Amino acid sequence: MFARPLLAAAFTVTLAFAVPAAAQQPIVIKFSHVVAENTPKGQGALKFKELAEKKLPGKVQVQVFPNSQLFGDAKELEALLLGDVQLIAPSLSKFDRYTKKIQLFDLPFLFDDVEAVDRFQSSAKGQELLNSIKGRGLQGLAYWHNGMKQLSTNRDKLERPEDVKGLKFRIQASDVLEAQFRALGANPQKMAFSEVYQALQTGVVDGQENTWSNIYSQKFYEVQKTIAETNHGVIDYMVVTNAKWWDGLPPDVRKGLAEAMAEATAYANKLAGDLNEADRKRIAEAGKARIQKLTKDDVAAWRKAMEPVWKKFEGDIGRDLIDAALKSNK
Ligand code: LMR
Repeated sequence: MFARPLLAAAFTVTLAFAVPAAAQQPIVIKFSHVVAENTPKGQGALKFKELAEKKLPGKVQVQVFPNSQLFGDAKELEALLLGDVQLIAPSLSKFDRYTKKIQLFDLPFLFDDVEAVDRFQSSAKGQELLNSIKGRGLQGLAYWHNGMKQLSTNRDKLERPEDVKGLKFRIQASDVLEAQFRALGANPQKMAFSEVYQALQTGVVDGQENTWSNIYSQKFYEVQKTIAETNHGVIDYMVVTNAKWWDGLPPDVRKGLAEAMAEATAYANKLAGDLNEADRKRIAEAGKARIQKLTKDDVAAWRKAMEPVWKKFEGDIGRDLIDAALKSNK
């Protein structure tokens, strides 16, 4: 009867003596993401690790888990809220359960290019969105770029919207993207990123939309026939943390991490354009999928076909945000 409490007491004493040593243990920060390391996000996460550990020697240890190794799309936001991981960087399409406003970024043909996306993200309205999910326990720390989306299918012809009628497309978990493919008369299917290659290879879906960097690093170009250079939308990220964990960090650690994040952001964002360009070239050189260039007329046809999506989501997103985003096009 008494053995257990006595043992517990002895253990408590041992632990009490162990506390000073334990207090010196570095804070372990798990950074989980779903893409390969040779991508803008993969490189950004590694740069953050390097900078954070340099700025806060012995105080933090950053562990980076790429390729959905630790958590995939379906679980990473929940895992962050549960404290099983401290940093993630989902694409902006993956927040619609938490706020409808970030769906802004999914509106087709909203931004002319990544420079316009960058101008909007740096504006007051863009920065406000980083705090828009605080009420849900999430703190946005930074935007990271990937690039503009291209459309790919397992068909030879991919120039005009009618070429995708009736085809099945994998999409990220976003209602705007679902509406976009429905507007084209295609069949969208929400699916985790880690499942896309196999779904394309086995014909579960006919096509997908993504950046050159993701199409290259995931080898989608090996299992698709045509990639149309549509640039019809953007894939960018929000680096997010658990708001409670972040606010509870010792101030010097939070400051060091914020600085490391700012520097890693500048690094990753500078790299993103070059990486996408290089990967486009690699795909062209591999000679597997054909890259379909589009004329101004073709692009206008895609834009027109996707236009109904804007009306459908304007109320949820807010006209003010849409106008601010449009202003960032030059
Ligand atoms: C996707 O799910 O298609 C991508 O957004 C994955 C990523 O994080 O780039």
